[in-house]
Amino acid sequence: MQKVIIIGAGLAGLSASVTLAEHGVPCALISLQNSERAQSVLAEGGINAALNTMGENDTVQNHYQDTVKGGVYLADPNAVQNLTYHAPEIVRWLEQLGVPFNMTESDIMLRNFGGQKKKRTAYARSSTGKIIMTALIDEVRKYEVSGLVQRFPHHRFIRLRIADQVCQGVSIQDDYTGEILDFSGTVLLCSGGMNGIFPGMTTGTTQNSGDVTATVFRQGVKLGNLEMLQYHPTTIGISGKRCLVTEAARGEGGRLYIMRNGQKWHFMEEKYPELKNLMPRDVVAREMYFVRRELGGEVFLDMTGLPEITWQKKLSDLRQEIMHYLSSDPRTNPIPVREGIHYFMGGIDTDEFHRTNLENLYAAGECTCQYHGANRLGGNSMLGALYGGRKAAESILQNPAEIRESKTNSEQEKFIPASPVLIQEISQILLSGLGIVRNQKTLETALEKLKQLSCQRTYHFYEQNRLLLAEAMLASALERRESRGAHYREDYPEKNEDFRKTTIAEYAEQIRISFREIPEKRADA
Ligand code: FUM
Repeated sequence: MQKVIIIGAGLAGLSASVTLAEHGVPCALISLQNSERAQSVLAEGGINAALNTMGENDTVQNHYQDTVKGGVYLADPNAVQNLTYHAPEIVRWLEQLGVPFNMTESDIMLRNFGGQKKKRTAYARSSTGKIIMTALIDEVRKYEVSGLVQRFPHHRFIRLRIADQVCQGVSIQDDYTGEILDFSGTVLLCSGGMNGIFPGMTTGTTQNSGDVTATVFRQGVKLGNLEMLQYHPTTIGISGKRCLVTEAARGEGGRLYIMRNGQKWHFMEEKYPELKNLMPRDVVAREMYFVRRELGGEVFLDMTGLPEITWQKKLSDLRQEIMHYLSSDPRTNPIPVREGIHYFMGGIDTDEFHRTNLENLYAAGECTCQYHGANRLGGNSMLGALYGGRKAAESILQNPAEIRESKTNSEQEKFIPASPVLIQEISQILLSGLGIVRNQKTLETALEKLKQLSCQRTYHFYEQNRLLLAEAMLASALERRESRGAHYREDYPEKNEDFRKTTIAEYAEQIRISFREIPEKRADA
């Protein structure tokens, strides 16, 4: 089979490359950064699987239910069924690769995470992403040696090469020399979230600029649920970005409060007696926003009651990080926290086999709109990336495509980064429309400002793509006239079953937004 071209070398890209290599199929692994610097290394809290090692009678069915409910019934149920069913085997595979998960006396230890009633999150202290990535990078090296995986770090995606409505390959650019290379073959996009659209407001790396998503959108690839931005409730501001305070801090007993009439008000505990501080992220973030709006002041995360052993064995990295950035010890001082943009439930629209609307183009990981519906549960992101990479690779193996070599006029295609001024302007406009709470007026005003900005100057190809992507995000949010998951409209505060559909954004000369039915769950899924 022809070489598969994978764009992105984080968890999804690595997982896909291992799967292909295990079947003897070669791939080119193309990434802007080395894997060691991928966004995946920033993941802290853990990975979900119904391993049931804590004597809580957890099941795959519980994991499925929590995931679809947490996503407020927008995710593809068949895809979620596959994801949750295969989760235990993914975590066991990681264990075999040597990931040093925290352990009970005899098995993998699991912790509480948001939106889940059972302990289901396997973890390695509070640096799970980094530790899993280390193991996976090592695994991929085996196949690099045999030549099945060929890495191209410091290479950037330029555009898809499309002919006769079929993806024929990609053009990429060597970031050091500027040389353009053309690759022919099946393409798998694992290019991560769109954090770079929100510099200063995101917990993720701005190297995940959203340029890949923006470019393929311009080239006719459909995007889904772009309005679904996840605000993580607990982040701290550090030199121009938001630093994640893992949900595990609340999973291990951390409590949120705000001062009211001189007393600590543990608002989550009062309002949500069952899951308390561990409600799904959309709910916690919104409640924090509301109590701040009502009372003023800051919301604090109080971890002062956690036992010493928890700090030592489970959250040691988190404590160091907070002390480093805030010069304050969370063992003794509650820390002020605010919401930060953490994850994109929306992105490249794929089916349960990770196929896009363009033949021979697949996508997996955070760049896709796939498993998480209107809100992702903590701990399902690394799972989605690892399982998604594998599933996409399996789909490619089952549908081999022979692509003829073709040349393009590469000289005209060099990448030019968007100007920092434009990035800031777009970001400010988007944040004014796509906050935790939205309404028609703020969305329309934001769209109007964006249109004015689009006419103000002349923009190059990649800047135009960013402007288009931003417009599609706002237009998607405007069209979804209901509140669901991360999308809360003050003017439509209720969920509306007429909108239990995927928002589809497509571009052909202009942006069009439509809604697609959620697939029925198959009996055999
Ligand atoms: O809070 C966290 O540790 C984040 C985990 C996740 O987004 O899955």
